[in-house]
Amino acid sequence: SHRASICYRPIEPSDREILEQIHCDLFPIRYESEFFQNVVNGQDIVSWAAVDRNRPNGQSDELVGFVTARIVLAKESEIGDMLRYDPSKPDQTLVYILTLGVVGVYRNLGIASSLIQKVVKYASSILTCRAVYLHVISYNDPAIRLYKKMSFQCVRRLQGFYLIDGQHHDSYLFVYYVNGG
Ligand code: ACO
Repeated sequence: SHRASICYRPIEPSDREILEQIHCDLFPIRYESEFFQNVVNGQDIVSWAAVDRNRPNGQSDELVGFVTARIVLAKESEIGDMLRYDPSKPDQTLVYILTLGVVGVYRNLGIASSLIQKVVKYASSILTCRAVYLHVISYNDPAIRLYKKMSFQCVRRLQGFYLIDGQHHDSYLFVYYVNGG
């Protein structure tokens, strides 16, 4: 065992294989290879990686956590009605978190909290941005607890939002307002 030294950096093309592997391990949903390509090339997606600089066996630059997000137009989003939205400003944006994950042995160290903070800080720096939002499957208690602790507000429960192995599951929609919401 060793003491973790966590750093945050952009996701790069060389991360692709590990990124894909961790998504496959952590999520019940399959993502297209186009998604991973867009993430590592930064095409329409912003992302951060967490790495452990003290990790042995040449793994000191290997992802142990990640967050991916996309900028969307508020008027084209499903939460346009939940913003203090000024129709005279049609350029209002939101940041939508697509995926967030931390590999098992690195959990409960605050890595996901830090990754969310990166996204919130980034969103706050965009003058047109009004909120960060995301969906989470209704039975994912650790993630729900985390979003609540990070002061995200649960604004909706969406019936049958996810279809996994032929089964429908509800999702919660969480929002964190920035720049006056
Ligand atoms: N020392 C000890 N404990 C800490 C520290 C610290 N420095 N910092 C935070 N913690 C605690 C937190 O208080 C929190 O406690 P809680 O469970 O009582 O709320 C707990 O550790 C978890 O917080 P983090 O450490 O910030 O989160 P973690 O890095 O463990 O990642 C995550 C949480 C992402 C949900 C992880 O469990 C995971 O990858 N799960 C599988 C994938 C997943 O469900 N992803 C989210 C799906 S939703 C979406 O992607 C939009």
